[in-house]
Amino acid sequence: MKLKLILAAALMSLGLSVHAAPIIVKYSHVVADGTPKGQAALKFKELAEKKLPGKVEVQVFPNSQLFGDGKEMEALALGDVQIIAPSLSKFSKYTKKLQVFDLPFLFDDIEAVDRFQSSKDGQAMLTSMTSKGILGLGYLHNGMKQLSANKPLYMPADAKGLKFRIQQSDVLEAQFKAVGANPQKLAFAEVYQALQTGVVDGQENTWSNIYSKKFYEVQKNIMASNHGLIDYMVITNAKWWDGLPADVRKGLSEAMSESIAFGNKVAFDEDDGFRVKVIAENKAKVEKLSKENLAAWRAAMKPVWKQFEGEIGADLIQAAQKANK
Ligand code: LMR
Repeated sequence: MKLKLILAAALMSLGLSVHAAPIIVKYSHVVADGTPKGQAALKFKELAEKKLPGKVEVQVFPNSQLFGDGKEMEALALGDVQIIAPSLSKFSKYTKKLQVFDLPFLFDDIEAVDRFQSSKDGQAMLTSMTSKGILGLGYLHNGMKQLSANKPLYMPADAKGLKFRIQQSDVLEAQFKAVGANPQKLAFAEVYQALQTGVVDGQENTWSNIYSKKFYEVQKNIMASNHGLIDYMVITNAKWWDGLPADVRKGLSEAMSESIAFGNKVAFDEDDGFRVKVIAENKAKVEKLSKENLAAWRAAMKPVWKQFEGEIGADLIQAAQKANK
């Protein structure tokens, strides 16, 4: 340390500038690089380092390499990671409001989700956890969820008695209980093996996650159900963010908005492409649910809305519904 200071003083006396070390920004997530979130994270690195040359170094860690579900929020609080993007289903420890996004069959499509997130109510949720040290930098899309298992799931009764992997969400737990299934909360990194070894029989996820994590290898049937969504809130440690030099915060903020726009475009443009890729693998049978089938699933899961109305707020549920066209 002393030697460094002497060296710096000597360089300065010669009129040479001393470069401060770049601020390291670790961005950790649980999915693959090729997914909307994976691509948004890489875009953030590219843009942030271009906007703030020499001032920041962004390190992206995909695939739960650095932290997986369960550990990443704690790591953010401890300053071991600066940016994470958990799915909206993983926030119930911090706020019950975000549970609105898990209500089955609430949103018709990701466009509706986008409208709700952009609304006053949606934007307010980004700053609703600052007292807990979490600041939302924006919402990022993935896509609608599809159901899979080792048998076709045409009607809710087909899911009865099956074990389904779910994210850390009481709403999703209630959703599967509503059809007589047994939900099990598991980290994303454990899903493939849990399906392979029969720890669970089925799961629900987006086309990009089903494809990139090869769930189609260990599931016989995938039903295009679009019954819910997986989207993210990109979050940072509020104290760390506030403590950044103003120019760095501005640059990172711009890079974040642009990277989210990029990731969202990937989500919109490539979602169907991931479905096609899953079909092309020719391992799991992909089927569309008929209108009648979907109506039966919707009716069976609808009581979950009432169950969580108290925690979420009837107003917020109504506002979300209005986002459908
Ligand atoms: C899951 O746990 O299934 C997803 O939240 C993973 C992700 O980040 O898309």
